[in-house]
Amino acid sequence: MSGSADSRPLRVALSKGRIFNETLPLFEAAGIMPSEDPEKSRKLIIPSNESDVEFLIVRASDVPTYVQHAGADLGVVGKDVLMEHGGEGVVEPIDLHIAKCKLMVAGFPGTDLESRRRFRVATKFTDCARRHFAARGRQVEIIKLYGSMELAPLVGLSDLIVDVVDTGSTLKANGLVPLEHISDVSSRLIVNRASMKVRHARIHEILERLAGAVTPA
Ligand code: ATP
Ligand code: PRP
Repeated sequence: MSGSADSRPLRVALSKGRIFNETLPLFEAAGIMPSEDPEKSRKLIIPSNESDVEFLIVRASDVPTYVQHAGADLGVVGKDVLMEHGGEGVVEPIDLHIAKCKLMVAGFPGTDLESRRRFRVATKFTDCARRHFAARGRQVEIIKLYGSMELAPLVGLSDLIVDVVDTGSTLKANGLVPLEHISDVSSRLIVNRASMKVRHARIHEILERLAGAVTPA
């Protein structure tokens, strides 16, 4: 890592696509603008108009890891991904109220979750799923996937899935229905626990400006 922790620019880890697009107006309102569009650039470190802030482009599920290990000072991450990570080494000062969805159990219509049989559950949220079913005393076999969870029941890989649902159109298009709510999800601003202390003044200023731009809905 180049530069000592308190002389280098503050690093903000973001994922491309939904999170970047929905976070951009908040950072802009806080006076911080990336110098390039990550959809058009291959650069993974993108400077901003503020010389002491830069953006890191990482996979959505890697954001908490970068922030935990101080590869980034700040990050924006879905609560689903944060719950799965566990939140070790990070603080979560702001609910940004963007990328809202729900973490749900889904499956075929008429599935009886109270039956005593052992369900197979396909998901990328393996720890969240395990905790959810264990809390209800249900026996499950968890099958780890990295995407297209809705496909798993259709080809007999699993009985159920655990995934995020927004409009419900992906479930519907694949003949599935939501069966159980696990958690409401929105994206959170997270901060490395040590950076929060060492660079408190600048981070606090950015947090105040971001919080002022959030519109809870
Ligand atoms: P990875 O590349 O690490 O697998 P991903 O492809 O899930 O991540 P995105 O699709 O950009 O990444 O989702 C980022 C976050 O946006 C998710 O963690 C979740 O909080 C939220 N999200 C996902 N799907 C939806 C959706 N359909 N509507 C609203 N928010 C969503
Ligand atoms: C997510 C998620 C579901 C879908 C749910 O996938 O894994 O498949 O969104 O959204 P819906 O309830 O509105 O259909 P992905 O990020 O690939 O979906 P996207 O097409 O919304 O980007």
